[in-house]
Amino acid sequence: MSFRSATAVGYVEDVSPGSGALPPRAWYPTSDAASLSLNGSWRFRLSPTADAEDDTFAAPGYDAGGWAEVSVPGHWVLQGHGAPIYTNHLYPFPVDPPRVPTENPTGDHLRFFDLPADWDPADGGTVLRFDGVESCARVWLNGTGIGEFKGSRLPHEFAVGHLLRPAGNVLAVRVHQWSAGSYLEDQDQWWLPGIFRDVTLLHRPAGGVRDFFVHASYDHVGGAGTLRVDSEVPGRVTVPELGVDVATGEPVTVPVEAWTAETPRLYDGVLATEGERVPLRIGFRTVGLADGLIKVNGRPVLFKGVNRHEWHPRTGRALDLETMRADVLLMKRHNINAVRTSHYPPHPAFLDLCDEYGLWVIDECDLETHGFTEQAWRDNPVDDDRWTPALLDRAARTVERDKNHPSVVIWSLGNEAGTGRGLTAMAEWIHGRDASRLVHYEGDIDCRDTDVYSRMYADHGEVERIGRKLDGGTRRRRQLPFILCEYGHAMGNGPGGLADYQRIFESYDRLQGGFVWEWIDHGVEDERYGYAYGGDFGEELHDGNFVCDGLVFPDREPSPGLVEYKKVIEPVRFEGDGAGGTVRVTNRYDFADLSALDFEWSYQVGGESVASGSLAVPALAAGESAEVKLPERPVAAGSGETRWTVRAVLAADTGWGPRGHVVAWGQFPVSGRQSPSFVASAGPVVSGDGSISLGPAVFDARSGALRSIGSVAVTGLRLDVWRATTDNDDGAAWRSDIRYGALWRKFGLHRMRHRLDAVEPSAGALTVRTRVAPAAWEFGLGTVYRWSTDGSRLRLTVSVTPDGDWTVPLPRLGVRFGLAAADRVRWFGGGPGEAYPDTRAASAVGRWQSTVDEMQTPYLRPQENGARADVRWAELGGLRVEGDPEFWFTARRWTTEELDAAAHRSDLTPGDTVWVNLDHGQHGIGSQSCGPGVLPQYRLHAKPAEFSFVFSDIG
Ligand code: GAL
Repeated sequence: MSFRSATAVGYVEDVSPGSGALPPRAWYPTSDAASLSLNGSWRFRLSPTADAEDDTFAAPGYDAGGWAEVSVPGHWVLQGHGAPIYTNHLYPFPVDPPRVPTENPTGDHLRFFDLPADWDPADGGTVLRFDGVESCARVWLNGTGIGEFKGSRLPHEFAVGHLLRPAGNVLAVRVHQWSAGSYLEDQDQWWLPGIFRDVTLLHRPAGGVRDFFVHASYDHVGGAGTLRVDSEVPGRVTVPELGVDVATGEPVTVPVEAWTAETPRLYDGVLATEGERVPLRIGFRTVGLADGLIKVNGRPVLFKGVNRHEWHPRTGRALDLETMRADVLLMKRHNINAVRTSHYPPHPAFLDLCDEYGLWVIDECDLETHGFTEQAWRDNPVDDDRWTPALLDRAARTVERDKNHPSVVIWSLGNEAGTGRGLTAMAEWIHGRDASRLVHYEGDIDCRDTDVYSRMYADHGEVERIGRKLDGGTRRRRQLPFILCEYGHAMGNGPGGLADYQRIFESYDRLQGGFVWEWIDHGVEDERYGYAYGGDFGEELHDGNFVCDGLVFPDREPSPGLVEYKKVIEPVRFEGDGAGGTVRVTNRYDFADLSALDFEWSYQVGGESVASGSLAVPALAAGESAEVKLPERPVAAGSGETRWTVRAVLAADTGWGPRGHVVAWGQFPVSGRQSPSFVASAGPVVSGDGSISLGPAVFDARSGALRSIGSVAVTGLRLDVWRATTDNDDGAAWRSDIRYGALWRKFGLHRMRHRLDAVEPSAGALTVRTRVAPAAWEFGLGTVYRWSTDGSRLRLTVSVTPDGDWTVPLPRLGVRFGLAAADRVRWFGGGPGEAYPDTRAASAVGRWQSTVDEMQTPYLRPQENGARADVRWAELGGLRVEGDPEFWFTARRWTTEELDAAAHRSDLTPGDTVWVNLDHGQHGIGSQSCGPGVLPQYRLHAKPAEFSFVFSDIG
């Protein structure tokens, strides 16, 4: 006889979805039936294995006085019990499905509650609902087992009315971290066990609502909506605003305004059965495939989307409503129109927000078996009939829960689960249950089961071929529209190349946009590091900071990537030639006209706005353009660098943004910049003390090193080609294409040596000749610094001549130097935020000011950041620098080497010196931390270059 009792915990490793739960049904946030939230503080006991403790704790009268407490919703590993684990796709346990390790952290939870006085347990029934528990739970009420379940991010309901008492109820939940279900939940994220979504007791009055399906379609030709609410329990449906009062199951057609993500028109209604009234929010829209395109209400849509995992730096995947709303508002304010709920159904309330504020949603099932790729997908559960009931259960729980949301336009079977019969069964079931939406699954490369051809991280060239329909593929695939369900990997600095994708999306009908990977960095708030990532909890296997690849930081501060994306996808396009006096305005919405927007102009001279006003733009319909006349130029041309800026702003407060919020903008130069004038006058003077003076500057006579400019001490000015490699420079280890981060290190670009060849004072200049090259290699950069003065200012011209066989581009090319005590910074050039050659769409030319600290972008793993593009001049630390031509400007309180060595923000300690980089060139950023690298036009090849700066001491 085996000692280990198979019966007690056999369900943990059982491939079935569970037992005892009610059939899935539509989720609704409120009704007039009573409900009792069981969220709050629960008693908690952690044990090391699934069967370390017996089930006596579930019995009434059990004394849990010595137990800890945890918050529900929550994850125990984020509340001081055990630790989170981060893996991308590797299972953090031996792959032997459906078996899981003996070491299986198991959390026993207890909640004691009384019923409110007016809740009579004998009247009708009561349902206990769990909205999300990871990964497997067994439940008892008042000592009676009521079932167990898997499917972490899915609701499970149990009928418990017969067990309830007016007072002194004991709800016991045993949660196992690992279960057979874990094999289906191998998403790239933290493994976070716990009861992480709401637990609610729902009174089910006699004659109360059970499942219902709101069908609300829109006929774009006639402008009518047809509503039919199918309900398991018959009743009536009323929509007062539409004068609708019909029986369930009965269709009614009325003139309506359609729902779209741009115009999220909802009608309030009520489903009333004999025992319950459920508020409805109805959006009329029709989704379908026509002419090979995804159409809503008869028109193709372009997804400007983002992949959203649920994340909060303290509570993990337990999100409150305000955090969900914050996500939606941030998305709307950044022109995002679509969300893929990667890679599981979100908290159901999130979808209510998407309905309300307007976002297209791809709702994804809680399914990923990515780890099986390591064994060539052998034994993949999605291709093993024993698992099919669990897969179908997941599909049904997703679709049934979320089917009444107008925002949901596409169902997704899951993510990175290979291929197999189980997926086909899911697709068939979904198509049969809900013919009103499309089915997506990226892994179905031939589109056997799906309605959309979807890929992740395809490069620009391939996407263009797909757009041109020259990509081949099965006959069925060739007839389908294309989306990039993931692209633009937003890990660290980047992603680069978004504007280039957008241009391609907009050029071919078949391309219906994409979803940037991903919304938020999953950094865990942590005393040691600020934010922790993979490996920081001593995990045996982990994928480091690959879990930090979002457009917003963990605290939801937008990263430069989000600002860039907002600009790239802006729904109004301005094109023009500033000198011509007109601007072409294009409405790039799919549905809305421009009546919700006001338009403004301003006119800049030398980066300063000297006049502004409003611009009359017709309320163009979606897709239309107009040539709009700009006002008379406020100042005659020729008075320095001048440009127009035009903006589209919200004309009135909306649910997601205040009046005046900038939606789109454009800039058009009128007269260009002139190079700083400079006439060399005096020559260098060599003094007996080992120095050379040249106008305001003093140099070391032996090394030619600059020491000071007037009162400003300058240290270490020299050529610089190195940057602290970004995640995108380093690239993903599995990529087979060239990854420059590693090559740069191999070739020693981080350890360039500076050989001094000559210090040559002459009549008009001081010339310092050097060769900059790494140990071990024959290639180098002949570098000549030529210094001159006009008496008060100092000019440096750097000439760089590469020699030898340069097989890699340069990370950067410019000079760097140290300044003491610089804090405030002013500049005229691109801003306000960071920009690099392929991430510069949002960089607006103007006068900006900041501080050195604010110029840093706090990527969770420190790396190159903070460059400002197109800088004409900058002032800091008493120095003014003018560029000829414009330069990339960076300033920080640590060296590039220190930045490069840091693993967390907390490793960076500000020093006394501010290190300044003035770059003639920067290599692009790309997206190679998962996707394609830097496009050829943004690579910084080593080639002869010359660039100048004029320095002056401004006290
Ligand atoms: C994809 C995957 C995502 C994430 C991403 C990289 O392959 O679907 O879940 O892992 O790569 O960050």
